[in-house]
Amino acid sequence: MREIEAQVRVCRLCKLSRTRTNAVPGEGDYRAEVMFIGEGPGYHEDRQGRPFVGNAGDFLNELLEIAGLSRPSVFITNVVKCRPPNNRDPEPDEIGACSGYLDRQIALINPRIIVTLGRFSMARFFPGERISQIHGMARVIDGRMCVAMYHPAAGLHQASLADIIRSDFRKLPLFIEQARKMLTQAVQADDGQPAADGGDVQALATDEPLKTSDTAETEEIVQAPEAAQTKRSKREKSDSDYKQLNFFDL
Ligand code: URA
Ligand code: SF4
Repeated sequence: MREIEAQVRVCRLCKLSRTRTNAVPGEGDYRAEVMFIGEGPGYHEDRQGRPFVGNAGDFLNELLEIAGLSRPSVFITNVVKCRPPNNRDPEPDEIGACSGYLDRQIALINPRIIVTLGRFSMARFFPGERISQIHGMARVIDGRMCVAMYHPAAGLHQASLADIIRSDFRKLPLFIEQARKMLTQAVQADDGQPAADGGDVQALATDEPLKTSDTAETEEIVQAPEAAQTKRSKREKSDSDYKQLNFFDL
């Protein structure tokens, strides 16, 4: 990890290197269970070389607290490690140039859960989806739980979104619990032992073919049965829309 960080700090693989003050490799626990992936550094991050230290960072800290997570216990990074000028959107060539660093960070940390913050991070794990449709929902990708969240900055610009984001983060402990159960079951399956509480995680029956994509392979559909029932009535439309896409919600 330190080697990746050192490479990022002097990286010249894309044009963002020409306008940055400091590259921002990311920070946190190298063995974190939960990894957060934002978009790219803003003004304060570029100044300090650390992720999420500005206003969006303050809100992220509040959200972590809501989710019962301490900041040092998670790992936080971004899709691009250098600030796009005037906080413009990162461009496809920049995201592409930077993706090797993120790939290596994910491989080394091997988190149980990846939480995407905003559209650009979401696009990597949930290609073709819309944040307004899948925020607060999860999918198992390559054996790992991936949860799509709005970017914290969206809550700063739109007060109505702030509460939605808070309630999405309130669900995170349940997703973490679910991800731990998946891990326990995978280990037990490896041992040839039956899962101790195998009834808790259920395959969700669907007639539809599983959706797969070039960049992400969906392996498994899981759902917390008791929570699924309460949700079904509330989100009838998105449930029927998304069930076949292997999303699950709590
Ligand atoms: N917004 C991001 O996406 N990342 C940061 O590090 C800070 C703000
Ligand atoms: Fe390198 Fe990524 Fe910075 Fe581009 S954004 S210069 S690829 S570290």
